[in-house]
Amino acid sequence: METFDRIEDIEIRLLLEALYHRYHYDFRNYAMSSIRRRLRQAREQMGVATISALQEAVLHDPDMLPKLLRYLTVQVSEMFRDPGYFRAIREKVVPHLKTYPSLKIWIAGCSSGEELYSFVILFREEGLEERTIFYATDINPDALAQAEAGVYQVDRIRLFTENHRRAGGRTSLSDHYRSGYDRCVFDRSLRRNVVFSDHSLVTDQVFGEMQLVSCRNVMIYFDRSLQDRAVGLFREALPRNGFLGLGAKETLRFSRHADAFRDFVREEKIYQRTGT
Ligand SMILES: C[S@@+](CC[C@H](N)C(=O)[O-])C[C@H]1O[C@@H](n2cnc3c(N)ncnc32)[C@H](O)[C@@H]1O
Repeated sequence: METFDRIEDIEIRLLLEALYHRYHYDFRNYAMSSIRRRLRQAREQMGVATISALQEAVLHDPDMLPKLLRYLTVQVSEMFRDPGYFRAIREKVVPHLKTYPSLKIWIAGCSSGEELYSFVILFREEGLEERTIFYATDINPDALAQAEAGVYQVDRIRLFTENHRRAGGRTSLSDHYRSGYDRCVFDRSLRRNVVFSDHSLVTDQVFGEMQLVSCRNVMIYFDRSLQDRAVGLFREALPRNGFLGLGAKETLRFSRHADAFRDFVREEKIYQRTGT
């Protein structure tokens, strides 16, 4: 049996139970150290004395939920994040994808859309956009709304542009957005083939067969059992030779499903589904 040595840990576990039973958001098997850190921040910044007080508030006031989700889900992202990953997608994966008449791509844990737009722009540059449906999913409704809007602070564009160039971009990033005041608005045509959807890797099922799943910097927040669950979903969604891309700090090496994948571009954490 698990022992709790701190009152705070008891409170955290009770809060996570409460969130699950009241709202069906299941953070119970997320990595505890990160959840603890983030709930402490929430407690301090919301000016409440204890985690139990947070629980009381969120149980009785649904307006508290989005506020708490902002702390519980990490939203750090950037366009063409880790340019080497997107360069490998362009140079090594795209030639395979070009052999398919139609494609389905799943960006799981898409946050505010930076990863999604990176894929759509890359696919447009490579002549694949028209035959592709992109599924962009996340559990945070505010992040999904931002992804649908495609609006970013102008001071982020320099980094996005540099990443795009390093990812082997064939166009200028500025071809794809309009800027005004302190914002950049990405071209609405980039969303033509995109389906945005609320989907949890922890509680939901697979919704179709995909040729590529990109799930970057999401599973680092999960414990081993959840990581296995998520990879199990990707295994189910991918046919033989389908591709799975993970974040720089993530690996399939310790997964229960490791045998169902082979390294495709090892240094960029891109895997290919085997026949098993
Ligand atoms: C650090 S962001 C990663 C964003 C993007 N994939 C990237 O690498 O730039 C992590 C995202 O995972 C989402 N997330 C957390 N738990 C999830 C779950 N159970 N199912 C789907 N997405 C989840 C969060 O809401 C957040 O948007």
